Amino acid sequence: MRVLVTGGAGYIGSHTLVELLALGHDVCVLDDFSNSSPVVIDRVHDLSNGRVILVEGDVRNDDTLKALMQDFRPEAVIHFAGLKAVGESMARPISYYDVNVNGTLRLLRAMDKVGCKKIIFSSSATVYGEPQYLPYDEAHPLNPTSVYGRTKMMSEQILADWAGSDGRAAILLRYFNPVGAHASARLGEHPDGPPNNLMPFIAQVAIGKRARLAVFGDDYDTPDGTGKRDYIHVVDLARAHVSALDYAVENNGSQAFNIGTGASLSVREMVAAFEAASGKTIPCEVTKRREGDIASMQADPSLANEKLGWTATHDLNDMAQSAWAWQSANPDGYSKS
Ligand code: NAD
Ligand code: WQD
Repeated sequence: MRVLVTGGAGYIGSHTLVELLALGHDVCVLDDFSNSSPVVIDRVHDLSNGRVILVEGDVRNDDTLKALMQDFRPEAVIHFAGLKAVGESMARPISYYDVNVNGTLRLLRAMDKVGCKKIIFSSSATVYGEPQYLPYDEAHPLNPTSVYGRTKMMSEQILADWAGSDGRAAILLRYFNPVGAHASARLGEHPDGPPNNLMPFIAQVAIGKRARLAVFGDDYDTPDGTGKRDYIHVVDLARAHVSALDYAVENNGSQAFNIGTGASLSVREMVAAFEAASGKTIPCEVTKRREGDIASMQADPSLANEKLGWTATHDLNDMAQSAWAWQSANPDGYSKS
């Protein structure tokens, strides 16, 4: 298939490119490199037999989209491009609505112009908000507590309305907590500045970039008092997109899917796994709770298991091992090819 991947140079996008190329898809990447580097694309090529067509540009730029759609004529789009930091979304709401919601709208309009009817969308478990029950299933009410979460919920609604007619399909993948890296240690997550997320922070402590991990509270109602999350290996997540593509070809309308393992792990369990994988001690200091954090999150992934034929296969050890291999081989991220 001809697949347009917006945000394909990013953390999740890059791993998905490798999977798509391995299956022989024709891939075009649209990325403005606002949170990534062209070096990522070189590395994807090193790891693959195929090559992607790269268009550097903003998903909100109608002229860029028009030219790309007319030249490449995608049969499907995987839409990763967006802003993703929860805290920053509260400080810069308009930027987040513009890139995430307006970007999605413009993309759909450009797709309509060339009759492209299938889209896979990067949504997030954060659309659910405070759990009314766990594990979350896709019928759980949506009540996001951040601007970021609301941009994802609004985009989902727009996509569902768009997919309501004319043989269109919108697959809304609600990712839980992506972690880990490609087995080659050539692709991984490289946050700009201090990491917001747990796993990259632990990894930077392990290589000595940061002195200690602040554990955001150990008085939650969980077995060891620290927050629990459903961590999902990024390669499993990448493969979910490939399964979703097949599903979108066969089905019309919109459908949301939880993409998680169905298990949840505490901060302390993540630290212990990383210590075992790296052989390093991770100094920890318990601090107060982070504002907006919830105690536990866990996916019910059974719908994705059944309908997409997709299941997570990597375990916690794979997550920790690959994250450590990536971090230790690339202490400065994508600074060189
Ligand atoms: P990322 O920042 O690594 O990748 C996003 C990519 O989009 C980057 O390469 C960036 O340069 C590009 N981009 C940003 N704005 C753009 C624009 N206006 N035009 C073109 N390109 C643009 O993020 P990621 O972790 O790979 O996440 C990918 C998607 O998945 C995002 O939409 C994010 O909200 C969503 N998501 C991520 C997580 C997570 O924890 N990483 C969880 C749930 C959902
Ligand atoms: C995990 C656990 C923290 C850092 C966020 C977004 C969500 C999604 C994924 C995009 C929590 C604890 C963390 C640290 C810590 N992104 N922690 N010390 O908050 O579940 O989800 O990323 O869609 O929208 O909200 O992930 O990795 O930040 O935190 O103790 O330095 O680790 O309190 O329990 P979170 P996280």
